Amino acid sequence: MYDTPPSKASRRSDVDPFRAMDVMAAANRMIAAGRDVISLAVGQPSAHVPRVVADTVSDFLGKGRVGYTDALGRVGLRTRIARHYAETYGVDVSPDRVMVTTGSSAGFNLAFLTAFDVGDRVAIATPGYPAYRNILKALGIEPVEIPVGPEDDYILSAGALARVHRETPIQGVLIASPANPTGTVTPPEELKRLVEFADEGGIVFVSDEIYHGLAFGPETSSALQFTNRAIVVNSFSKYYCMTGWRIGWLVLPPHLVRPAERVGQSLYISAPELSQVGAEAVFGATEELEGIKLGYERNRALLSEALPTLGFRDIAPIDGAFYAYATIPDGFGDASEFARHLLETALVAATPGLDFDLQRGHRTMRLSYAGDPAEIAEAVNRLRAVPGLGG
Ligand SMILES: Cc1ncc(COP(=O)(O)O)c(C=O)c1O
Repeated sequence: MYDTPPSKASRRSDVDPFRAMDVMAAANRMIAAGRDVISLAVGQPSAHVPRVVADTVSDFLGKGRVGYTDALGRVGLRTRIARHYAETYGVDVSPDRVMVTTGSSAGFNLAFLTAFDVGDRVAIATPGYPAYRNILKALGIEPVEIPVGPEDDYILSAGALARVHRETPIQGVLIASPANPTGTVTPPEELKRLVEFADEGGIVFVSDEIYHGLAFGPETSSALQFTNRAIVVNSFSKYYCMTGWRIGWLVLPPHLVRPAERVGQSLYISAPELSQVGAEAVFGATEELEGIKLGYERNRALLSEALPTLGFRDIAPIDGAFYAYATIPDGFGDASEFARHLLETALVAATPGLDFDLQRGHRTMRLSYAGDPAEIAEAVNRLRAVPGLGG
């Protein structure tokens, strides 16, 4: 009587696929089959981890034991992260408020689980990073998507947030600056207005600062410069080139530290110790990391110049992160067809916009320029050769 398998997955797991990962998998299959695909699909640096990280970690490995750490993370790393706030933003953050996480992805889970209850409403900008919507939904929290577009430079303003809150109150708001997929940077004065609006209304402010260090011109501010009530989510994946190490951090307001620690103990035990050791070392690799960033700047200049000539429109300000986001050229069907066409004819993989915007994303595309400059230049050449593109 026990041999009937359960016939359904949970309703909470019915979230959208992360299509960029699907595109990456398709591109990887082609690469494995010997095709020379260039991927602009996924936001991960092609650069290797800085030398000092590899050396420090192999020394540590030589000593033999890799174990669990405290759920909040190794004290040395938490202290180094706290110092980073003093050095970079002039903000005093106690190491006690820092929690090391398994990438910012785990950070979101911990932040949402400790700050929100089932049924709470959390505002996010659309287009936006799809995992926000998916994680919130899986946790029974309602994502409230506020559209942004060319008319507001793809930036969610305090005014737009206030209008939504007046209609149906929200309990939280999540802002990413620089943002994925648009690359926009919320100006410091707007970020301050957003933070103040949230603080005044008792709204939890979650600041995704994972692309800090990767702004090309405009200044990036941490929410912690304006408040100590915000939850800051950050990661070693992007500027620090450590995607596969799955290591990130949270800065929490004091009253959420113990709840996050309790939840973290049961969900993850701790972030991987080896990755924590590597992360502490990477703070000593600024020169190498700034060199890698120069490569992104070259890629960005190339794409900024090429995209309009290829027929892309409504190009979001390419201010930060390593993404260009734009409406696709006319005459190629919707963005998924266009992405398939580019992969087949030009061997260039890029992400259709539906990941980031379920309403308007069938006309948009995200191109990641986190790769090597020679590779990005070759991708642009291949795009120029596609009949109908820019010709
Ligand atoms: C805006 C944003 N936040 C968070 C993440 C998750 O990164 P990780 O879990 O590697 O820290 C990503 C990954 O692309 C991202 O683009």
